[in-house]
Amino acid sequence: MLPYVLLALIAPLLALAQGDDGGISGPTTSADAAGYSCDASKCKLPDCNCASANPPGGLSPSDVPMFIVFTADDAVQSYTLDSINQFLGHRQNPNGCKPKMTYYTSLNYTNYTLVTDWYVEGNEIADHTMTHVGDPPDDEVYGNLIALNALAGIPLESIQGFRAPFLNYSVNTLKLLAKAGFTYDSSASASLPVTDPNTDAYWPYSLDNGMANDCLMVEGMCKGEPKLPGFWEIPMYAFFDNLGVNGPHLMDPWLDNANGATKVNDSATLEYMQNTFTAHYKGNRQPIGLYTHPIHLSTTYPGVNAPNSTINMINQFLDWAQVQQGRLNSFAPLKCSTPQIDSSTKICNGIPQNEAGLLSHCPFPDFPFYTCYGCPTEAPTTSNPNPAQQVPDGEQARFRLPSNCSTAFWDPIAGKCLCTGSDWTGGSTDGGANPTASSYVPFNGKGYSVPAGVWAATFVGVVGAVVGVIGVF
Ligand SMILES: *[C@@H]1O[C@H](CO)[C@@H](O)[C@H](O)[C@H]1NC(C)=O
Ligand SMILES: *[C@@H]1O[C@H](CO)[C@@H](O)[C@H](O)[C@H]1NC(C)=O
Ligand SMILES: *[C@@H]1O[C@H](CO)[C@@H](O)[C@H](O)[C@H]1NC(C)=O
Ligand SMILES: *[C@@H]1O[C@H](CO)[C@@H](O)[C@H](O)[C@H]1NC(C)=O
Ligand SMILES: *[C@@H]1O[C@H](CO)[C@@H](O)[C@H](O)[C@H]1NC(C)=O
Ligand SMILES: *[C@@H]1O[C@H](CO)[C@@H](O)[C@H](O)[C@H]1NC(C)=O
Repeated sequence: MLPYVLLALIAPLLALAQGDDGGISGPTTSADAAGYSCDASKCKLPDCNCASANPPGGLSPSDVPMFIVFTADDAVQSYTLDSINQFLGHRQNPNGCKPKMTYYTSLNYTNYTLVTDWYVEGNEIADHTMTHVGDPPDDEVYGNLIALNALAGIPLESIQGFRAPFLNYSVNTLKLLAKAGFTYDSSASASLPVTDPNTDAYWPYSLDNGMANDCLMVEGMCKGEPKLPGFWEIPMYAFFDNLGVNGPHLMDPWLDNANGATKVNDSATLEYMQNTFTAHYKGNRQPIGLYTHPIHLSTTYPGVNAPNSTINMINQFLDWAQVQQGRLNSFAPLKCSTPQIDSSTKICNGIPQNEAGLLSHCPFPDFPFYTCYGCPTEAPTTSNPNPAQQVPDGEQARFRLPSNCSTAFWDPIAGKCLCTGSDWTGGSTDGGANPTASSYVPFNGKGYSVPAGVWAATFVGVVGAVVGVIGVF
């Protein structure tokens, strides 16, 4: 029953994402429209950073890592996590940890318990509104935080980022995010190639001096506005095909036609993705982003036939771009740690072997989901994102995550925190099946080989870590 129901409901979402998902077709800013100025001697790290194509902190490009930022948007389901895993599940960063990614989560059709699992795996959960609306009103943004906290046990302070559905945002959106205590937005486009002297491919910057991206797109923005000290923009960096500035590709570039052609051509896509990567890498090393709607590439979703060639193409790109060089081994924000909990402990904590058998199934007709935190009496809505719990006869209500316990150690059934403060393995292993593995195994065994020494540390990182890196250097 579940797959059938979800199928019917996701079809419209698929159509949406394939249509206007926030693509761009040309420049979204210009130096004139930006009217941006920022005094780097006053705007200093860690709290302030001017919009600049150069690496933060005055570092030379050869001293900064080449980040690949992998993000996913929309509902979290088994199908979308399978989809992401086919790109990231087998990979390692140079420090031996599994790559982390950022999931901009919207709640229609989300299976809450999988958000818990994905978060406890070490990934970042960010806000994408409750019901996927553009230029979102406050309750869409706040409701998402409240429902994710209540029904998935995601700590409020860990939800730091936002991306607007359809990349449709306004000056008000940014003000609302800053006021609500978010650290960053990632809805703006970098629409001019890094080889253009006026490129808008800025390293992440704080809005102390206003925005410098999307000045031609969003009313009332730029020329110093909006001034939001300490709030960051992480631009989405476009790829460019042979048409240069007139051939930008932003989200799901593999669904686009390249070079003005009328059909998708995976070789042409791979070619321009590699060319854009190389331009970033040999230039100022602005991050490269793979911004995905993973449902398109699901191999498990009934009725969706993701082309294998596209999946192989994306993996080929990642194989080619990712080379282990062992740099940044000791960089704390990119280290991975694993909660130490005996696998026989029955606790509903986002770790599949611990929580098996303890989940509640909440069979809302248009939106059945699972959660460890007790089914609500009605599906969450913007006017009531945290409805009262439905407590089955003979059971007691489940306890919601308190602010002083981490998700992996919280037992919502007993209402107890099992953490004593030193229950994480630290260091440079991911604590997984084979923490000492040091060799990188390409997805299909025939990825491009990149000569050793030509490429420095390249790895898949979490978008939050970009901010982290800046803070430390
Ligand atoms: C929802 O989560 C449950 C528990 O992990 C899982 O059994 C089920 O397959 C998931 N369904 C979807 C559609 O994500
Ligand atoms: C999904 O979103 C629509 C608005 O687009 C809303 O009317 C509906 O109630 C939502 N459904 C659920 C189950 O959240
Ligand atoms: C952005 O979203 C708002 C509200 O849904 C809508 O009225 C507006 O037309 C959208 N703008 C664009 C450019 O799609
Ligand atoms: C697809 O792209 C490749 C690489 O640019 C090109 O050599 C080939 O001719 C293209 N195929 C078609 C059918 O256009
Ligand atoms: C894709 O690959 C899988 C596994 O190798 C295979 O079962 C499936 O038939 C392939 N699908 C297509 C459309 O080629
Ligand atoms: C968390 O706070 C509660 C009450 O505020 C307290 O009883 C509990 O001991 C605290 N737990 C930890 C692990 O600090």
